[in-house]
Amino acid sequence: MLRPMNDADLADIAGIDRCCYAFPWTLGNFSDSLLAGHRCCVYEENGRIFAYSVMMAVVDEVHLLNMTVAPERQGLGYGAALLRRLVACSRQSHFASMWLEVRESNAAAQALYRSAGFVRAGVRKNYYPASNGREDALLMVLDLQHAA
Ligand SMILES: CC(C)(COP(=O)(O)OP(=O)(O)OC[C@H]1O[C@@H](n2cnc3c(N)ncnc32)[C@H](O)[C@@H]1OP(=O)(O)O)[C@@H](O)C(=O)NCCC(=O)NCCS
Repeated sequence: MLRPMNDADLADIAGIDRCCYAFPWTLGNFSDSLLAGHRCCVYEENGRIFAYSVMMAVVDEVHLLNMTVAPERQGLGYGAALLRRLVACSRQSHFASMWLEVRESNAAAQALYRSAGFVRAGVRKNYYPASNGREDALLMVLDLQHAA
């Protein structure tokens, strides 16, 4: 079931984020996203969260700030399903485009975004912290008005 994120979810979500990223979001980052009114949702089954997303609306654009599937559920189609739902909702809400940044080294996420129709729009140099300094982000965009 896909539902809106709430405060009671944050400890579990921050725990999953710590398992998935070398530089995870803190519980405070997720809490700030809820307070800011970002579009935050979770996939849950039998009361257990296994995927979540955070999107920020900026005028007619929506920015995907975080999309994560728990390690034990990765590679089973949940990320693609979540992204399809986010794209469909954003299109229904009449956003013109969806934007995201992804690490240059994150081939799996890039493949997912490309298969959903995202295209490369640029590079943000040294955008992410990395174990050996900084890493570039690819900036990707999906045209929500014209893409099928
Ligand atoms: C990236 C992520 C969201 C993908 O979700 P997922 O549920 O694991 O992916 P899916 O099973 O839905 O696969 C969808 C597509 O993603 C790509 N993909 C997923 N895992 C992959 C892997 N290990 N290697 C290469 N491509 C992969 C493929 O294109 C796949 O399509 P296909 O099955 O037709 O080949 C998830 O693995 C994750 O949360 N990873 C850790 C955090 C992260 O990197 N988040 C994105 C930050 S920008």
